[in-house]
Amino acid sequence: MDYDAIILGAGGAGLLAAATAGQAGARILLIDHADRPGKKILISGGGRCNFTNRETEPACFLSENPHFAKSALSRYSQWDFLALVEEHGIAWHEKTLGQLFCDGSARQIVEMLVGECQRGGVEIRLSTQIGEIGHADGRFRVGNAIAPQLVIATGGPSIPKMGATGKAYEIARRFDLNVVTPRPALVPLTLGPDEMLFREISGVACPVVARVVDRAFEEAALFTHKGLSGPAILQISSYWKPGETVALTLVADAAEMLRGARRRMPRAYLKAALAERLPNRLAEALAARIGIAKELGNIADAELDRAAETLTRLTFRPTGTEGYAKAEVTAGGIDTAELSSKTMAARRVPGLYAIGEAVDVTGWLGGYNFQWAWSSGVAAGRAI
Ligand code: FDA
Repeated sequence: MDYDAIILGAGGAGLLAAATAGQAGARILLIDHADRPGKKILISGGGRCNFTNRETEPACFLSENPHFAKSALSRYSQWDFLALVEEHGIAWHEKTLGQLFCDGSARQIVEMLVGECQRGGVEIRLSTQIGEIGHADGRFRVGNAIAPQLVIATGGPSIPKMGATGKAYEIARRFDLNVVTPRPALVPLTLGPDEMLFREISGVACPVVARVVDRAFEEAALFTHKGLSGPAILQISSYWKPGETVALTLVADAAEMLRGARRRMPRAYLKAALAERLPNRLAEALAARIGIAKELGNIADAELDRAAETLTRLTFRPTGTEGYAKAEVTAGGIDTAELSSKTMAARRVPGLYAIGEAVDVTGWLGGYNFQWAWSSGVAAGRAI
């Protein structure tokens, strides 16, 4: 069977690339080993799919080349995807920090994309293994399908139990494309036994500023029995490297806060002062860690300032991450130096493209990763 392009992977990137190319008149075959398309879309955003972010801009993405995403993001922006969502009558709302979600269900996004594929006459083959990829005389062969163009859209290995694989990297290497070492991102961090104190408060969440080197995110952190999670930690995890320290600001104005508490309630203990601003169990664990067993009125300035330092800069040295099993995305991937930023076409292999999470472009938490899937998918879809 002859096609104009074979697209491998019916996730967000593959579906929109297929629809775009199909509607422009190309004969497209879309292949996936899963039994339904867009499985990650279905589970995303707690079932409501955080499909884009109003604030999307290139600075919200990690890549060895921070400029790479600019072209695709500007040529198919968050507003373009939102227009498509509205054209399909899908009701949406902004939750927080520019994050746009369906009012109803993530299923609506998958149905919209499959509908767009149908409008473009795309043939979708599900429950189909890719197998060996043939390449001769400028044509690619996958099973019995042949085409002059092949799109790698099989995502990254995050959440293998959902069918995620490192197939994209295998295909890239088969065509001699460099792969930036993949690593789990937007992932909980693990702590060692010396941080046991905090495991005891597993389930406690509070707003923090989380910092790694020169990056900071102001959102909630969650203490877990394995370490740290919550949006602030997931965000910072994408920037964290083994051996680095994570610092949490729990109370930004801790020195003034403690001095004020000392004036107002000199007979109280530190835990009571902390509990005015922090969840009770966390206040208790921190007071134990700070270890000042005196009434506030008896704590000298220097000692109070040391306590304040713990609240403004509580540091952890994570032992690692919870890995691909819990990572929302994979950072790293097919090296952007191998690709055209305008079309996502491989520079050295005519007809080959790579899009979506398979590529070394990783968004922050909050709808940015889907926006990259849409933008890179449309870039390739228009070029096919
Ligand atoms: P994606 O992984 O979606 O698709 C790849 C496709 O290739 C899949 O259909 C897969 O079955 C197929 N495939 C893989 N290996 C194959 C093989 N060997 N053979 C054949 N087919 C193969 N992002 C966001 O912006 N907002 C959100 O709300 C969320 N929420 C979220 C929740 C959870 C739990 C996860 C794990 C992830 C998110 N994300 C997210 C991230 C987002 O899901 C992700 O970035 C995009 O789905 C990436 O789209 P792609 O199309 O590139 O890959």
